[in-house]
Amino acid sequence: MKIGIDALGVAVPRRYVDMVELARARGVEPGKYVDGLGAREMAVAEPGEDTVALAALAGRRALAASEIDRASLGLLVVGTETGVDHSKPVASFVHGLLELPQTMRVYDTQHACYGGTAGLMAAVEWIASGAAAGRSALVICSDIARYGVGTAGEPTQGAGAVAMVVSANPALVEIDVGVSGAASTHVFDFWRPLGLREAQVDGHYSVQCYLDAVSAAYRGWKVRAIERGLVRGAPGELASEQLARICYHVPFCKMARKAHLQVRRCELEDAGTAWDPAAEQAGLASFKRQVDPTLPLCARIGNIYTGSLYLGLAGLLHAQAAELAGSRIGLFSYGSGCTSEFFSGVVGKAAAARIAAAKLGDLLEAREKISVAEYERIMAQPPTSPLEDAPAGDGFRFLGVKDHRRQYAGK
Ligand code: CAA
Repeated sequence: MKIGIDALGVAVPRRYVDMVELARARGVEPGKYVDGLGAREMAVAEPGEDTVALAALAGRRALAASEIDRASLGLLVVGTETGVDHSKPVASFVHGLLELPQTMRVYDTQHACYGGTAGLMAAVEWIASGAAAGRSALVICSDIARYGVGTAGEPTQGAGAVAMVVSANPALVEIDVGVSGAASTHVFDFWRPLGLREAQVDGHYSVQCYLDAVSAAYRGWKVRAIERGLVRGAPGELASEQLARICYHVPFCKMARKAHLQVRRCELEDAGTAWDPAAEQAGLASFKRQVDPTLPLCARIGNIYTGSLYLGLAGLLHAQAAELAGSRIGLFSYGSGCTSEFFSGVVGKAAAARIAAAKLGDLLEAREKISVAEYERIMAQPPTSPLEDAPAGDGFRFLGVKDHRRQYAGK
């Protein structure tokens, strides 16, 4: 059975800051943010554009882009590390806001930025097991990345949600079920203690943890992909080069470049070949071809944690779905703490038409650029501040808390 991502929907906050302006305000050479980190713009979420509001909007858009009947949904999973309640999951709010069928499993999944992939894998394997009995799943990744004004992590913030309809005979990407490599280690590279609004992070260590994870996860995927005949493993043939594109988790765009060079380093190490300047040049050329096309949306939105890998996938399909039809791509998901997974899938023949239905071209055009001072004013707002003016179009908003119950509105 073919199983995978049938449709996508993306939601981003209505405001953003320009990274050159942010760098100047912080007394930093703009080249550090733009070239050093690969960031052009950064989405700024107001407290009223919270995890739930973004998730519900992305979910609504994914369902609108797909051709499935809502009555055929049997599973809703939200992957998030920006929960709004210790007990009631974001998925439960979304289930209500989207008026989804009662006869569904509804829950959140959490492991930092890997949470969305945990949901995707649960959905894929639920369908593969036969338990879905013909039904489909809605998997949503929704987060707000917040490190704080003036911190080293500040230019790697962002916010947004990506929703995926997961089904049999998917239009966008058929996942290679059972062909993946996972890697996990108990580390404190990045974490978000209960009660704190800002993430704690050991920035440079987190980059190293990510690189260690991608090495182990990629090698795991490669062994299985060769065994299953998805890629060739003869001496001199790099498995990673047989993937038309590779989407990595993108905390900032430069990280995808570091990750890709690390994968290349692993390939050469496994073949007993030295990493030298020529290997680095070949690696950079392959980055341009295989990874750069996945980054345009990430560079203009920033880190959206669980959704970041899938934002890369959405941007890639938006730009290149027609030329990639029938091609195998790689995907790497990293969640600090840490756990990770490298997996793959094949772009569908109908992907170009289906991704067009997600209207990603309108996504960034609808946003408003704000000044650094306005961004700082938003960052200082209490977390329970409602969104006073209704968002334009099809958005949802948080209205505040009444009797300890979060209130939302949407059209
Ligand atoms: N022009 C061009 N490039 C410049 C420059 C200039 N004027 N000035 C500096 N640079 C380059 C540096 O050389 C460096 O490039 P390399 O990494 O290739 O060496 C880059 O800009 C960044 O400079 P620094 O390393 O000095 O930056 P920093 O110390 O201020 O911190 C950071 C960078 C660690 C990523 C920090 O932003 C951070 O902590 N971010 C949050 C954590 C994070 O995103 N971790 C990623 C892995 S964990 C993960 O993936 C999970 C998740 O989503 C959080």
